[in-house]
Amino acid sequence: MLDGRTTLSKFLIDTLDREPCPAQAAGLSALLIDVAAAIKAISAVLTRGALGGQHGSAQSVNTHGEEQKKLDVVTNEIFVQQCEWDGLLAAMVSEEMEEVYAIPKVYPRGEYLLAFDPLDGSSNIDINGVVGSIFSVLRNTGEPQAQVGESAFLRPGREQVAAGYAIYGPSTMLVLSVGTGTHGFTLERDVGNFVLTHSNIRIPEETEEFAINVSNERFWEPPVRRYVQECKDGRTGCRQRDFNMRWIASMVAEVHRILMRGGVFMYPRDSKTSAMEGRLRLLYEANPMSFLVEQAGGHAITGRERILDVQPRRLHERVPVILGSKQEVERIGRYHGEYDRGEDKPFTSPLFGTRSLFLPDFTA
Ligand code: F6P
Repeated sequence: MLDGRTTLSKFLIDTLDREPCPAQAAGLSALLIDVAAAIKAISAVLTRGALGGQHGSAQSVNTHGEEQKKLDVVTNEIFVQQCEWDGLLAAMVSEEMEEVYAIPKVYPRGEYLLAFDPLDGSSNIDINGVVGSIFSVLRNTGEPQAQVGESAFLRPGREQVAAGYAIYGPSTMLVLSVGTGTHGFTLERDVGNFVLTHSNIRIPEETEEFAINVSNERFWEPPVRRYVQECKDGRTGCRQRDFNMRWIASMVAEVHRILMRGGVFMYPRDSKTSAMEGRLRLLYEANPMSFLVEQAGGHAITGRERILDVQPRRLHERVPVILGSKQEVERIGRYHGEYDRGEDKPFTSPLFGTRSLFLPDFTA
C-alpha cells in the first residue's frame, strides 16, 4: 500500500475484509472506523483550545482519585457515543469510568470489547502540550447475549486483536496495529480522512535516548537506577557513549517518539505506593502500547516479564512499564534478573557511596 495515497478505510478493508480474510476479524474494520471517528471529533474539540470553553477542572475525580478535567469527561463521552451504537461491541472500559460500560439495550451487542484512555497526558492540556487517546480491542469470548462483566476484560494483552493511539500534536495522527505491523495515518484535516503516511514502522534496535521521570529516582529499584546512572555517565562510563533524556509527561508522545526514532520509555516499579505497581494502567495504556511496540520490532516488559503476558486481575490495575528499542529493553530486563539473583546488589558505603559488587560490563 502506498504512503500518502491510502486512506484508513482502504487500508482496513484491504487488510481485514478481503480474501484471504481472517474470519475472526469480521466487523473489526467497521469498529476501527468508528474509533477513528471518535478521534477526529476529539481532535476538533482540542484544536479549539481555550476558545472551546472546555478547559479546566470538571470538579470531580476519576476512579484512581485523580482530578478530572472537563476534557477528560468530554472525550470519554465522545468515545462512548461514537462506538456504542454500531452493534460491534459487547462492552467498554475506560480510564474515566469505574465500572464496565454495558452497551445500552436499545443497541445490538457485538463480539468485541473496547478499552480506552480517551485523553492521555491530560495535564498537558493547560500548557497546550501534546496529548493523546489510547485504545485496545479484544474479542469477547463469553456468551454473545450475556451481560459482560469485568472478567471478560481480564485477558493478557497478547490476545488483543487491535490496538492504537491518536496523537494530537501539530498534526493529528492515528497509529494502529491489527497484528500485521504498526502503521501511522495522518489526519488530512480539510478532507477529514486519515491517510497512511508511515507504513510498517520499525523501531531501531539500539538507541541513545531514554525517558523517565527522574524526580522519582529515590523510589526506583536498583536495576533501573543502574541503567539510568550508566546512561548519565555517558562516554565516561561503561556504555562509552553519550545518552540524551526526554520527558514529555504524555505516554502517547513518548511512545510516538520511540516509534519514529527509537529510545526507551520507563515508568518502572517504584516504592511510591505500597503496592509498587508503577503508574500506568495495564488494560488501556500498557497493553495497547506494548502491542504497537512489539509489532514495530521493539520490546515491552515490566522489568521481569513481557507485558503482553501479564494476567490482569483488576480492571484498572497498574503495571510497571519499560518499552522501546529491543537491545536496551533486553539490557534493562537483564539488570532486573541479575539483581533478583543477587548477582549485582548495590551496597552503600559511608566511604565510597553506592557501589556495585561487579565491574561494569564493557562487552555487553
Ligand atoms: O496517565 C498517565 C500519564 O499521564 C502518562 O501519559 C505519562 O507518561 C505519565 O502519566 C506522566 O507521569 P508524571 O506525572 O509522573 O510525569
